[in-house]
Amino acid sequence: MKKALITGIAGQDGSYLTEHLLSLGYEVFGIVRRHSVAENQNHRLVGNGTNGKVTNFYGDLMDYPSLARIVSEVKPDEIYNLGAMSHVRISFDMPSFTIQTNALGVLNMLEVYRTTVPDAKFYQASSSEMFGNSVDDDGVQRLTTPMNPVSPYGCAKVMGYNLVRHYRHAYGLHACNGILFNHESPRRGSNFVTNKVVKGAVSIKKGLQKNLELGNMDSYRDWGHSKDYVRAMHMILNHDTPDEFIVATGETHSVRNLCETVFGKLGLNYEDYVVQNPKYMRPEELKYLKGDASKANSVLGWQPDYTFDTMMDEMIEHWMAVL
Ligand code: GDD
Repeated sequence: MKKALITGIAGQDGSYLTEHLLSLGYEVFGIVRRHSVAENQNHRLVGNGTNGKVTNFYGDLMDYPSLARIVSEVKPDEIYNLGAMSHVRISFDMPSFTIQTNALGVLNMLEVYRTTVPDAKFYQASSSEMFGNSVDDDGVQRLTTPMNPVSPYGCAKVMGYNLVRHYRHAYGLHACNGILFNHESPRRGSNFVTNKVVKGAVSIKKGLQKNLELGNMDSYRDWGHSKDYVRAMHMILNHDTPDEFIVATGETHSVRNLCETVFGKLGLNYEDYVVQNPKYMRPEELKYLKGDASKANSVLGWQPDYTFDTMMDEMIEHWMAVL
């Protein structure tokens, strides 16, 4: 039985990856940060069939002793470093915490990995936010597109990405980067735009809310489904050679189009309800993302199951049932 250790196991991707790895017969271990509301620590892992099947430890990417203790106790075959401060706008409010967690936290994990289980495999959750406003002439970001991050979050992720490559080359480790474009699901935090729009539109439909306040409506994102993307993580890590891969749908939509689609599916016109609030604007905005996942498609045989439409239907169905 292979052992996988997931940092950030309590997040959207951590919970779907746990389910995927359990279905493949893995023994799964996770690291969670202490939260003052006990139930909030692992609510995504409760009631989805993983109850009692996962061993979680308290730890923190900034707490080297906790990482060293957990990794020597578990001795994982695979490490998935998904733990991060994952909200781009909030990274402007907490730049130092973001850099510490998303950059130095990667360094801490890599050091524990190198010194404790160097034969294991290491996956780093790298991000399309690393490209910033770089885009090739044909309107696509690919592995050769320069990285020009436009947020503390993006800057930190570039450092983590480079550290993983450096550790691979310097120490011969099986350390990989998955550059994942935006990926969503009903488990997405409701302060990210897709779930915020779906939850808001359903609340309006049910008469629970009058309007929805958003920031920039004219940015574009390449939105896939987290369930599809965690499958890619496992494929990336289990490829013969450690490498970099982009995971994306190759399709882009504006936030405005997202609103039009979601409100439209509920028989509403978004223009009647969506208002802009400068509070949700960013000091510098990443305007456009559309990823080229051809290497993951051809080398790994990865393909997404969800489309933008089926993902939105699933999210709407979720909030219709919850609210
Ligand atoms: N969150 C949020 N809230 N975003 C809004 C809002 C709002 O009220 N109004 C407009 N937006 C716009 C943002 O300005 C951005 O252009 C877009 O919606 C997407 O924002 P998010 O859903 O917060 O995601 P993100 O693109 O900033 O970051 C996500 O994707 C990255 C990969 O590119 C996160 O998941 C990151 O962790 C991930 O690395």
